[in-house]
Amino acid sequence: MKFFIDTADLDEIKEANDLGVLDGVTTNPSLCAKIGVKDFEAHIAKICKIVDGDVSAEVVSTTYEEMIEEGRQIAAIADNVVVKVPLIKDGIKAINTFSEEGIKTNCTLCFSPTQALIAAKAGATYISPFLGRLDDISTDGMQLIRDIVQIYDNYGYETEVLAASIRHPMHLLECAKEGADVATMPLNVIKSLLKHPLTDSGLERFLKDWEDLQESFK
Ligand code: E4P
Repeated sequence: MKFFIDTADLDEIKEANDLGVLDGVTTNPSLCAKIGVKDFEAHIAKICKIVDGDVSAEVVSTTYEEMIEEGRQIAAIADNVVVKVPLIKDGIKAINTFSEEGIKTNCTLCFSPTQALIAAKAGATYISPFLGRLDDISTDGMQLIRDIVQIYDNYGYETEVLAASIRHPMHLLECAKEGADVATMPLNVIKSLLKHPLTDSGLERFLKDWEDLQESFK
């Protein structure tokens, strides 16, 4: 399973990358706005240099022609950039064109299995089902992941299931059990994967016993 970090914050990306388990980054316009990104292309270029893996950068156009122009510009930023495209009619058309041009895409804002099926048929590199946002409206986000994994397996689609809008470690656990190819998570969720109180108390005990042993030799 690949781990992506869901942020545009360079310090957070560096911290996750330093752990040695980071496979990529996803950004979106809201995440860029959150940290006040002024020069979008320069900022994405910096992220692409930090991480040895795919970096999703989203178009803000909504018509086919504009998405193609904007997406080509984004694709030229770095070899590891992925053009993130919303799952709308013109977006699907654009993904098809990008696929023919060899430009990697991340089809975003997916909330149904049939949307995911169309994205795969268009040749998306990644599909991003938004797990947490479905849970937020009392809908089973995990069922969406299960359905997409099954549909893609049934037909052998190569589009990778990139579970997005992950809010806590149980989301990640369930996605891993269901076979999602990638999970994109905020830094706090990545760090929370490490935590267990018995690890902390166990280590404290080991270190104390070792210290007592050294003392006994004095
Ligand atoms: C995915 O690519 C999105 O950037 C992200 O996961 C959305 O998460 P949110 O629902 O927490 O905003």
